[in-house]
Amino acid sequence: MTRRAPTNFPILDVLAERWSPRAFDQDATLTMADLSPAFEAARWAPSANNLQPWSFIVGFRGDETFEKIAATLSGFNASWAPHASALIVTVTHTLTASGRQNAFARYDLGQAVAHLSIQAQADGISLHQMGGFDIEAITEALGVHEPLEVVTVIAAGIAADPATVSDEVAEREFAPRERKDASEFVR
Ligand SMILES: Cc1cc2nc3c(=O)[nH]c(=O)nc-3n(C[C@H](O)[C@H](O)[C@H](O)COP(=O)(O)O)c2cc1C
Repeated sequence: MTRRAPTNFPILDVLAERWSPRAFDQDATLTMADLSPAFEAARWAPSANNLQPWSFIVGFRGDETFEKIAATLSGFNASWAPHASALIVTVTHTLTASGRQNAFARYDLGQAVAHLSIQAQADGISLHQMGGFDIEAITEALGVHEPLEVVTVIAAGIAADPATVSDEVAEREFAPRERKDASEFVR
């Protein structure tokens, strides 16, 4: 399934075609080798002072890390995201080399995830970022300690035909793709 964005100006195909599915192919598997180009793209993201304040914890469906992450997902996320082939926890390093708060840590992690998601899209892998999870439970389950902080969870996999998933999930796959007009945020 593709859900190309109805853009007002031509943009790169990979950007227009990226979207966040909830219908994932439950039979599809991914390996670290499959995700390596996407992590390489994240590696080459820009960051303040080149601090690269990001790391990723990856679980593949069926392994212990995946189960730990899946158990912390909340609400609707808990129903569809465990069907993805991998769950990726994004982590930021909150301090600079001199031990001060890095004001750009989350910004830089977000840029790395943008690179990750676009390379994954180009490689035929769909990502769906999530903020809906129990932050304390995931931090504890994965043993993440200060100055590291968990920020999001990303479901990664192969987008499935909505006909193969529950009506509740399928319905959202057909919702119109909408955005503010650029005139609302560019001046
Ligand atoms: C930081 C962040 C948190 C998000 N949290 C959730 C979430 O908990 N559950 C969910 O279904 N989608 C979540 N999303 C996905 C957004 O809803 C989605 O990216 C947005 O609606 C635009 O849709 P698109 O990515 O298909 O273009 C999140 C996205 C981001 C970037």
